[in-house]
Amino acid sequence: MENNTYPFVNTPLPYEYNALEPFIDEKTMKLHHDKHLQTYIDNLNSVMEKYPGLQKLSLEMLIRASRRLPVQIQSTVSNNAGGVFNHRFFFNGLTNPASKEPHGKLSISINRFFSDYECFASEFKKAALSVFGSGYAWLVYGNNRLKIVTTPNQNSPIEQGLCPILCIDVWEHAYYLKHYNVRSEYIEDWFNIINWEEAEQNFLNCINHRK
Ligand SMILES: [Fe+2]
Repeated sequence: MENNTYPFVNTPLPYEYNALEPFIDEKTMKLHHDKHLQTYIDNLNSVMEKYPGLQKLSLEMLIRASRRLPVQIQSTVSNNAGGVFNHRFFFNGLTNPASKEPHGKLSISINRFFSDYECFASEFKKAALSVFGSGYAWLVYGNNRLKIVTTPNQNSPIEQGLCPILCIDVWEHAYYLKHYNVRSEYIEDWFNIINWEEAEQNFLNCINHRK
């Protein structure tokens, strides 16, 4: 991944701020990328600045190794490195216009583990709705199978050795300006802008580096 070690930089979105309209509005995308993600990047850089010995570690290594870091910075690094990784993953997983359904090897695997795309979508929506407070729902690969998992706050499935394929950010900042408190409508809209090509690529990377 580009820009993956200290000092972290907020690389631009891979599309315009208004590209996901009408499903996610321009103002939400601007705030989400330029303010929320920027804050995680700034916070991570400011703690890393004081620990030159850790500056060579990649974002993923910082997340996976957070419990082995000096105790006074464990939660700051874990929260902010997770915030950077999760947001980049979420933003990169969106596109508009998008294909309606997965294809390729991921499609075959979704049908194998969830019966069909409709069952997968229904289960994923249920998981995204079930996140209490702030967090994410993910499609991940681990132990030779696809699974849907949720993570609270900025926790990331890579902490548990799971390989992420797709995620939705269900923090209210991801949808409140357009969808107010109606998370279910935001999730419905999100299904229209899933970048299935990116998800397929993520899946191929997962199965080629089996965990
Ligand atoms: Fe977010």
